[in-house]
Amino acid sequence: MQDNHSTDTRQANILQAAAALAKSELEHEGSGHDWWHIYRVTELAKRIAAAEQANLFICELAALLHDLADEKLVEDPEAGLKRTESWMLENAVTAEETAHVMEIISTLSFKGGAGKPMTTLEGAVVQDADRLDAIGAIGIARTFVYSGKKGRPMYDPNIPVRQEMTPEEYRNGKDTAINHFYEKLLKLKDLLNTDSGRRIAKQRHAFMEEFLERFDREWNGIDGL
Ligand code: ADP
Ligand code: NI
Repeated sequence: MQDNHSTDTRQANILQAAAALAKSELEHEGSGHDWWHIYRVTELAKRIAAAEQANLFICELAALLHDLADEKLVEDPEAGLKRTESWMLENAVTAEETAHVMEIISTLSFKGGAGKPMTTLEGAVVQDADRLDAIGAIGIARTFVYSGKKGRPMYDPNIPVRQEMTPEEYRNGKDTAINHFYEKLLKLKDLLNTDSGRRIAKQRHAFMEEFLERFDREWNGIDGL
């Protein structure tokens, strides 16, 4: 049995090194998964972990490393996962902790298909934190940044709102920032795993709905007066 003090020091050192790694790897990331996304997800994961009595160290480490192998960010997610795994083993993360974090980030990294469900409480916490960063005020801002970067319009009344998009519609530029709310963001609150995550989601969701209503009123010039 290790004494608590040396365990705490080991864990603090690992978390500091993981934050430095994520910062350096994602500093110039422009698709909405930059270091500040990692920072926000990590802060939320810590809060949710405390409320749900999950293992704080695992949640914080998985949150810090969760996007280093994301299929949207690296060419080869398998290679990204291997690198992350080696990094942990070389940085005093135990084999058991490494396996747990790998299970979480590999589930988060492959979003295609049905998406495997999270198998541990810590995975549920980190997935909730990641999803929460896509809704609310931050979610709204990220969506418009993403659409702008892709050169898509914020809204087009001639494009009917759809809850499902085919890959062909994406390719043909039939996607707007506003449509992304209906296609994905408004659905996220029902996908959360934990009670704490759902409580936070409720407020963020209500704010998005209010935003969409106001957007519509202002678009049609029927607000105020
Ligand atoms: P995740 O964080 O789960 O990997 P995504 O990569 O799907 O999420 O999205 C990252 C950010 O980019 C999100 O905040 C999301 O709102 C935004 N985004 C993704 N796809 C679109 C889209 N088609 N239109 C507008 N914004 C998008
Ligand atoms: Ni993420």
